[in-house]
Amino acid sequence: MSHASQEGRAPSGALWLAAWVTVFALALPLAGDGAAAPAANAEPPIRIPSDVAWTKDTLAVISSGDAFHGLLLARRCSHCHGEDGFSAVGTFPNLAGLDRLSFWKQMQDFRSGKRTSALMQTIAEGLSQRDAADLAAYYALLPTASDPLEKRAFPQPMQDPSGATGAIRLIVFGDGQRGIPPCQSCHGPVSYIQGAPPLAAQNGSYLAEQLDHFSNGSRTNDINVRMRSIAMQLTAEEKTALSEYYGAGLGPGANSR
Ligand code: HEC
Ligand code: HEC
Repeated sequence: MSHASQEGRAPSGALWLAAWVTVFALALPLAGDGAAAPAANAEPPIRIPSDVAWTKDTLAVISSGDAFHGLLLARRCSHCHGEDGFSAVGTFPNLAGLDRLSFWKQMQDFRSGKRTSALMQTIAEGLSQRDAADLAAYYALLPTASDPLEKRAFPQPMQDPSGATGAIRLIVFGDGQRGIPPCQSCHGPVSYIQGAPPLAAQNGSYLAEQLDHFSNGSRTNDINVRMRSIAMQLTAEEKTALSEYYGAGLGPGANSR
């Protein structure tokens, strides 16, 4: 009974199907045109600088890092970042004494591709969030005091010492006219904001590269455009002077952390 009635409807079903196919065949080219128009006018997708947000959960993961496990993992890092967290190459960053939040955030940003680096992205992809917390805990413990016996790029004397006055002014006072806050109000030692690394034991060439990357838009992982907005306002001379000043171990807080 029911079987028969289904068969009875079959022809009308087929007709409907044929009708729909025709409608779609006619509508498709139109839809194609219609779809292309809004895409051309669409806003570019909003680019989020980092997947890291300073939530309670994130802070809990970072603060639970196990420095001993970090020490074991750090064998994979020492040929570039140095046995004691001081690299032998000026363009490779020192990791000794790096603030944990900053360290962890950079590892996540390399992992997600929010910060690009041919060398670091592959390395970070091979580490879990916990591994990164363990490494952060380990490197934060390493002393930043200088050791003349170690093979280190840091500190390097300033190539142009005449830049020192301008550098210290920006570090201590900033520049109110351009809206640049003092570097030391975010990077220490006066105060730290979450995720801002200390700069006092960092290699000058590395710092210079990062300032360039922020100002030319090739590094965009700073939350709220904090560093890009500052770096874009600095002149080339100021960027060099600031990098050389910190890189010479003259920045406030050097060797005291
Ligand atoms: C082959 C060399 C190499 C190795 C091995 C390496 N790194 Fe790096 N690392 C770099 C370079 C180069 C950069 C700078 C990237 C850039 O250009 O921005 C960097 C940057 C970093 C930064 C960011 C520092 C900052 O101040 O923002 C962290 C954190 C870091 N590396 C951690 C590690 C850890 C942890 C390991 C080991 C698991 C490791 N690296 C292994 C070369 C290396
Ligand atoms: C309003 C706070 C603030 C001020 C002021 C500030 N910075 Fe930063 N800076 C940050 C933050 C936050 C980061 C980390 C960005 C990220 O998440 O990757 C950063 C990162 C950097 C880096 C990259 C370091 C690394 O290890 O990769 C450099 C270099 C730097 N700042 C230099 C400076 C200099 C020089 C000044 C002064 C002219 C300055 N900053 C002033 C907040 C600040």
